[in-house]
Amino acid sequence: MRIAVIGTGYVGLVSGACFAQAGYRVTCVDVDRAKVDSLTKGRVPIYEPGLAEVITEARRRRTLVFSSDAKSAASSAEIIFIAVGTPPRAFDGHADLSNLYAVVATIAPALRDGCLVVVKSTVPVGTGDRIEQSLQDLRPDLEFDVASNPEFLRAGSAVGDFRKPDRVVVGAQSERAASVLASVYATLGVENARVLKTKRRSAELIKYAANGFLATKIAFINEIADLCESLDAQVQEVAQGIGLDARIGPQFLSAGPGFGGSCFPKDARALARTAEECGARMSIIEAVLASNDRRKRTIVGKIRMASGEDLRGKRIALLGLTFKAGTDDMRDAPAIALAETLVEEGASIHAYDPVGMARAATLLPSSVRYHGSALEAARSADVLVIVTEWDEFRHLDLVRLKRAMATPVLVDLRNIFSEEQVTALGFAYCGIGHRSAWHRPPMPAEKHHTPAIGFPESARSSSRKALTTMKQRGVEAAE
Ligand SMILES: NC(=O)c1ccc[n+]([C@@H]2O[C@H](COP(=O)([O-])OP(=O)(O)OC[C@H]3O[C@@H](n4cnc5c(N)ncnc54)[C@H](O)[C@@H]3O)[C@@H](O)[C@H]2O)c1
Repeated sequence: MRIAVIGTGYVGLVSGACFAQAGYRVTCVDVDRAKVDSLTKGRVPIYEPGLAEVITEARRRRTLVFSSDAKSAASSAEIIFIAVGTPPRAFDGHADLSNLYAVVATIAPALRDGCLVVVKSTVPVGTGDRIEQSLQDLRPDLEFDVASNPEFLRAGSAVGDFRKPDRVVVGAQSERAASVLASVYATLGVENARVLKTKRRSAELIKYAANGFLATKIAFINEIADLCESLDAQVQEVAQGIGLDARIGPQFLSAGPGFGGSCFPKDARALARTAEECGARMSIIEAVLASNDRRKRTIVGKIRMASGEDLRGKRIALLGLTFKAGTDDMRDAPAIALAETLVEEGASIHAYDPVGMARAATLLPSSVRYHGSALEAARSADVLVIVTEWDEFRHLDLVRLKRAMATPVLVDLRNIFSEEQVTALGFAYCGIGHRSAWHRPPMPAEKHHTPAIGFPESARSSSRKALTTMKQRGVEAAE
């Protein structure tokens, strides 16, 4: 069976390479000729662990080729996966489907009878219907199916996730389309029990609902982290305590500088827009987005505080720039807002990332200096900030690092170190979601008397009574 994958980015390249390794004859297509040329010469344009090996193996077996000719690839394929980008539209945050519809218009004249067009890109509900309608208009003669097969791989572990997914969602309007798609995944070794067959519209929504939920989990633990700092609790302990509950689960409960990447911010925004448009507003997702945006701006407060409340003339070393470890993806990475604010406030930035510096250089302020190692970036720094949780930072030689720095101050936005470990070496340390020894804000004791939003009316009225009594007694309640 021949497969065409249109759009050779993180999703398309991983999918195409894994299908080819499983024995399908795959053509990966992209409009970016430089990318196609580079892949044809054996150079992999993105960093994804294990991907280069899969591509090499598939090319050796001659099951994988690269092309910029979508029409020709589609004309000989039984299955066409569309995996082009669906970035947020600048004016309303909704998914921009222009790349997707451009592909449909290009391949329509070339499609063969009985073909299956599969949308792997993340697209709003109803996109499959519109593609089907448009193909019917362009090719009234054609027998075809349109299915939705959203992708759940994670940047940084994409190859493993693609080969061993938790589930494969197959949204199709015909049994034939669903079985063909399920059989492709069976060849990859995915058991039938992991294939969830749904209506096409449900499949489209599953992807947004999944990302909306995961984004909510991250925003939730980040706000719990702030609460821990106010109340002198420890966020890792709280996360462990709630994560052991099987209904909650331990994943996505690491507090940090806010979620980023190519999916969570964009998909949460598109979900909120979709819900608003159909009159079923998702206030939870809107709050998650606002909370995350706020966090990206306020997290700099920790570095400001570590710099003695004045960043002017301070030399800040940023370790890690990508939105998470294991990827070179810089889209919506918290490091971008962080670097912009630090530069605005007069700091000079010295950065190091194991794989993300080339992409970072196009997105971060031009004054940022890049270095070949963590140690080099840290030289003469006033504050060292862990922004991304790369494994190599966990194994840093902290004694050498301390000697290289102007002042040994460590702000750990990923909690990769323990306070005891680094303070024993003479660092001043500030992590996320726990009070550090050198920064103990006063306990907001009176706040406990403030009536909270969401309390039942009975509780509110008794709080009001308590406040009135306090005022009568001359006690001022804290705002
Ligand atoms: N990156 C992820 O981790 C991830 C995970 C799950 C789902 N997704 C979704 O998958 C889709 C693709 O994401 P990505 O990260 O791979 O994007 P990407 O930007 O890395 O890749 C998209 C590719 O499509 C190409 N392209 C654009 N228009 C084209 C056209 N008309 N013809 C051929 N190629 C074209 C681009 O040149 C680019 O190489 C998005 O909808 C995204 O939301 C991404």
